[in-house]
Amino acid sequence: MAHYEDERLADLVKADRVHKNIYTDPEIFELEMERIWGRAWIYVGHDSQVKEPGDYFATNIGKQPVVMIRHKDGEVCVLFNRCGHKGAQVVGDGCGNARQLRCSYHGYVFDTDGALIHIPKEEAYDGTRFGKGRPEYNMQQVPRVDSYHGLVFASMSAKGPDLKSWLSGAAASIDNLVERSPEGRIEIAGGCFRYLHDSNWKMFVENLNDAMHPMVVHQSSSGTAKRVFDENLKEGDEAPFELEMLSPFTNNYEFFDKMGLTAWDYGHSVTGGKFSIHSGYSPIPGYMEALTNRYGEQRTREILAVNRHNTVIYPSFTLKGVITSIRVVKPVAVDKTVIESWVFRQVGAPEELFQRSITYCNLINSHANLVGPDDYEAYHRLQHGLQTQDGNEWVSQHRYLGLDEVDEDGTKHAVGTSDMVFRHQFQTWKNYMVNGGALQ
Ligand code: FES
Ligand SMILES: [Fe+2]
Repeated sequence: MAHYEDERLADLVKADRVHKNIYTDPEIFELEMERIWGRAWIYVGHDSQVKEPGDYFATNIGKQPVVMIRHKDGEVCVLFNRCGHKGAQVVGDGCGNARQLRCSYHGYVFDTDGALIHIPKEEAYDGTRFGKGRPEYNMQQVPRVDSYHGLVFASMSAKGPDLKSWLSGAAASIDNLVERSPEGRIEIAGGCFRYLHDSNWKMFVENLNDAMHPMVVHQSSSGTAKRVFDENLKEGDEAPFELEMLSPFTNNYEFFDKMGLTAWDYGHSVTGGKFSIHSGYSPIPGYMEALTNRYGEQRTREILAVNRHNTVIYPSFTLKGVITSIRVVKPVAVDKTVIESWVFRQVGAPEELFQRSITYCNLINSHANLVGPDDYEAYHRLQHGLQTQDGNEWVSQHRYLGLDEVDEDGTKHAVGTSDMVFRHQFQTWKNYMVNGGALQ
């Protein structure tokens, strides 16, 4: 890795642009896995996926396989998914329940906290250093695991800020997501869309707070839907919910500018706040009443008044509070990224709210939908276009440069179509890659 000394890495990020190698060079990708995905808090899963002892969910942190599992004492553990014997991945992909974890290669068995508890023909190890009760041969626990409202994050680094401080202002998006449940509780439900993109992971992360693209990229889907509905809806007809979802993507620049952008420490950010493309949805019968019963009228109004669009918790996790869904970023290679889309049920809310979220994800986030493939095509063209040797080595981040508003605590604000969030994400990128994750 001598190819990229720290000074050269730092040089790839300027105040108003970044070098294209950041998206295309496999060496930089490997360094990101070590220095960003190996240092930051990375989203693993929600604890409702592992309700009972022995429930497990196999996933990755960066390129490393891990398994989230509920131990018999009730604790949620995140283990490296690697056998203590010769290193085979112990748990296959996906989820399930197991009393113990038995490696499929030679049959060595581990407890649900990773402890090695059975070795076939164990006496063969007499007089050696291998055996039960030696922690180095267990399935190892990931250095740090913590959760916020049931969302489990893990860090491959033993050092660094605790989860709550690291979440910074983005924690409020999670608070609001959970407060939207009349019981203050969310649960993963309805399965997962898993979608391989042939582009760099940062393109997806940037796009979620990119308000310059919807009215262009989504003209073919949102614009067409609007036109078809306009032509077919008669006066007095109730507009279908699908139209409420699809229409705002082609709102004008002024709308997206007013939505605004906010960014916090460690690269996190949000579009919207007081209103967003989700603001115009019709009320769900019974939902307001269920919330009012728990929180009272005033607080219910405050909860529903929060209308954040996409929150990005850099680098791995994005959420939409109003839609109660998340999208999880899983880098595979410099030009390959898996995006997972999950939906939460707001416990105690009418079923219709959950169905609305499912409809949104079918329409917008799935592989066979109307809107997501527009973005997919844009990422593909970015990745492909950056292969050119046309003499321009830089990716522009000049929009509204110098016009960010910065609060005393470092929170940044800008109009929705500013490049502020991208400049901010890459300052964070530089901090992880060059400064060991220190705050700027
Ligand atoms: S590698 Fe797992 S039991 Fe041998
Ligand atoms: Fe988009």
